[in-house]
Amino acid sequence: MPRDRGKILFGLGLFVLLMAFRIWYNVARGKAGYRPEVVRPTAETKCVESREYMVAKHMNLLNDWRDWFVREGRERSDRTYKTGDGRVYKMSLTGTCLSARCHANKAEFCDRCHSYVSVNPYCFDCHLVPKTGASSTPQPGAEGRRVP
Ligand code: HEC
Ligand code: HEC
Repeated sequence: MPRDRGKILFGLGLFVLLMAFRIWYNVARGKAGYRPEVVRPTAETKCVESREYMVAKHMNLLNDWRDWFVREGRERSDRTYKTGDGRVYKMSLTGTCLSARCHANKAEFCDRCHSYVSVNPYCFDCHLVPKTGASSTPQPGAEGRRVP
């Protein structure tokens, strides 16, 4: 029906204009490269690897840790990871990454960025999230098994 089509086209046009406005508005305000505000640790100043590496590759590093740990870690007594500059960490999602000295506040670090980019890693279906006022702490799954 021509009348409806007119309405639809008008609606679409308006939508496109609004989106364009939002983009230009942000560009004008210097927010084109907007990044969500994450709360960084204060006790530690260095992450496992460089900041650039972690921003781009933290998921790969975590997956590597998991694979190394699960495949060979059980037999290895140390279960450690040596960084490029020789520092040594225990390969553990909760025990190292989310430890009290580092990203204990998952909600204000991991979650804040992940919700912005709409990723929701399933890791915490099993892995424990430390209780530091993190409001979005998931409950244990049906099995109730949580990994320390
Ligand atoms: C279905 C449950 C489950 C899910 C989902 C899961 N894991 Fe695990 N993960 C385990 C178990 C079980 C271990 C072995 C723990 C042990 O042997 O002490 C483990 C070990 C690990 C370890 C080494 C030990 C440690 O304390 O952290 C890392 C790192 C790890 N997983 C990362 C991840 C990441 C990253 C994800 C999401 C992409 C993930 N896991 C999702 C169950 C799970
Ligand atoms: C500055 C933003 C940012 C922060 C902070 C951040 N992440 Fe991520 N993370 C991402 C992005 C973006 C992706 C998706 C990358 C992709 O899909 O290629 C991702 C993906 C992941 C994945 C893989 C998920 C999947 O389904 O493939 C894991 C695991 C993960 N992040 C763990 C963490 C943990 C644990 C923390 C906190 C200690 C954290 N991230 C903090 C941006 C961030």
